Amino acid sequence: MKQHEHMPLLPIESGQGVWLTDFDGKRYLDGVSSWWVNLFGHNEPRIKSAISKQLDQLEHVMLAGFTHRPVVELSERLGKLTGLGHSFYASDGASATEIALKMSFHYWRNIGKPEKTQFLSLQNSYHGETIGALSVTDVAIFKDTYAPLLKSSVQMPTPDSRLAEQGADAQSVALRAAKELEDYVAQHHDQIAAFIVEPLVQCAAGMAMYQPLYLSRAREICNQYNIHLIADEIAVGFGRTGTLFACEQANIKPDFMCLSKGITAGYLPLSVTLTTDEIYQAFYDDSVARAFLHSHSYTGNALACSAALATLDIFEQDKVLENNRQTAQYLNQQLAAWQGMPIPHLRNQGMIWAFDVSTNNPTFQRDFYREAISRGLLLRPIGNTVYFMPPYVIKSDEIDFMLQTTKEVLAICA
Ligand SMILES: Cc1ncc(COP(=O)(O)O)c(C=O)c1O
Repeated sequence: MKQHEHMPLLPIESGQGVWLTDFDGKRYLDGVSSWWVNLFGHNEPRIKSAISKQLDQLEHVMLAGFTHRPVVELSERLGKLTGLGHSFYASDGASATEIALKMSFHYWRNIGKPEKTQFLSLQNSYHGETIGALSVTDVAIFKDTYAPLLKSSVQMPTPDSRLAEQGADAQSVALRAAKELEDYVAQHHDQIAAFIVEPLVQCAAGMAMYQPLYLSRAREICNQYNIHLIADEIAVGFGRTGTLFACEQANIKPDFMCLSKGITAGYLPLSVTLTTDEIYQAFYDDSVARAFLHSHSYTGNALACSAALATLDIFEQDKVLENNRQTAQYLNQQLAAWQGMPIPHLRNQGMIWAFDVSTNNPTFQRDFYREAISRGLLLRPIGNTVYFMPPYVIKSDEIDFMLQTTKEVLAICA
């Protein structure tokens, strides 16, 4: 709040498409999809109408002992799309992570391996900020203060393709990181419950992108040494990386998949942890101690599920993935003209673009944000990394505005 003495909070009155409008009528292009949640723009009529229809029928009922049509339909559709037939709902990403971690640990306990309590994650990983999720997160500014409260976890070398500069290509970076994972797992697998990973893009790390090969190797290693693979697709799911789910590009099925953010296209809070029949069966028992006791009041909220169903409908009706490929092609063509600018590691995966800015400006992050906002563009650099993660409906003139404004702001701040 102290920082807002110099940069007042922006009260937003309305949204339409990629635009947010404040109370003075000034518009801002939402280049970060309101923290990576919005897919089809603000004020999308089909999602609004689905929520409003559901509102006329049933807004919410507890999922303990009860169920309802949207949650059943959503679970069935997600099961078909992911190959993971069991869904456990919550309302935010961090809770989905907590559920996956607890369920993995509890599974091993139920099958007589209570010593498997350790979790592995990647260097620079981000899985949320509740105590359990923060324990497998590896971003110092979020984690350091709370270190005494957290459960220890082990971080594996990141397959970040940017490391390729040190004399290897992106594939060999991925293979090297996978080898290090394998070496660690081979020694410690008896104590390891699961390896949690953000497939293809470590977003909060500054859009660190890596090769699908790493994921396929990780799947093989987890199979070989009998540990779970948790795919945290909270940020990358629902088309963000070019396929509906990022895991598809490595042709793998995780033991757990965490989804949130884009699941409702940015309309209502909802998350889900999907898992396999094998894991589900280990809990299916008369004994309460073997059951997965984890509850949130708004679990499987009917309005949120109806927004998620409308989101899946739009993916089918609008050929979203195909259109995104064209949008990405246009944006990449425009970016091609940026060659020669001091922006190393210009990278793209699906509907995510990022570059690192070579600058000596110690307040680059803040200055960039402020200058961009003053020109009607909402971008939030992570350190010196500038990224674009716009809603999928961004049009070419809006892309032109986003890129031209970014160029102007770089000329001032970098
Ligand atoms: C990969 C990943 N996992 C988990 C989370 C946490 O989600 P939430 O902020 O809804 O708790 C995020 C949020 O940015 C994320 O990017």
